[in-house]
Amino acid sequence: ARPLRIAPSILSADFARLGNEIEAIVDAGADYIHVDVMDGHFVPNISFGAPVMKSVRGLTDAVFDVHLMIAPADPYLADFAAGGADIITVHAEAGPHLHRSLQAIRALGSKAGVALNPATPVAAIEHVIDLCDLVLVMSVNPGFGGQSFIPQSLDKIRQARALIGGRDIDLEVDGGISAENAGAIVAAGANVLVAGSAIYGGNDPATYAGRIKAIRDA
Ligand code: DX5
Ligand code: ZN
Repeated sequence: ARPLRIAPSILSADFARLGNEIEAIVDAGADYIHVDVMDGHFVPNISFGAPVMKSVRGLTDAVFDVHLMIAPADPYLADFAAGGADIITVHAEAGPHLHRSLQAIRALGSKAGVALNPATPVAAIEHVIDLCDLVLVMSVNPGFGGQSFIPQSLDKIRQARALIGGRDIDLEVDGGISAENAGAIVAAGANVLVAGSAIYGGNDPATYAGRIKAIRDA
């Protein structure tokens, strides 16, 4: 099994101190930095784009895990790869040519991820699984931090785990994760846990290490 990775989402960071928030979360034990990019079109919210990511990329060697909630995604893949995204994840629902998008990400030198909204079946990625380095099961409807985990996601995580089988692919889950449900999510087969509000809530760096540890230990 692949190692457990904790991926704090900087969507819940204090953007006025974004660089400090990233350095603090790495010091606190984060494995991946989860970067939520929203366009106000694919999802009903706007966050930030490649220039913001690029400006903080140099602060740490940590893996930058970029979650693109944008449609179309293809015109922006090169900007994120050039800006230092280690993993670029596109949504299966974001365009008609998912196969091409995943090929393009790998051709740019990043790892390729595919995300599934709560309503999208795992079968939607059956024919592209060998182009994936990461599968992201959304456990909330994307667009906002601080929402509740959708319980049916556990069954879907098990289905995604079965599809991945022995392949060298991360299984990431995103939305509503806390120390209370992290154990069940990992038991269902996930190895990368995204958490925004459960880690950055309150924006007090003194709490970050304890919050990451609570999720890891769960
Ligand atoms: C949701 C984003 C998530 C979000 C998670 O649209 O993709 O990464 O920031 O936030 P929490 O952990 O607060 O649900
Ligand atoms: Zn995300």
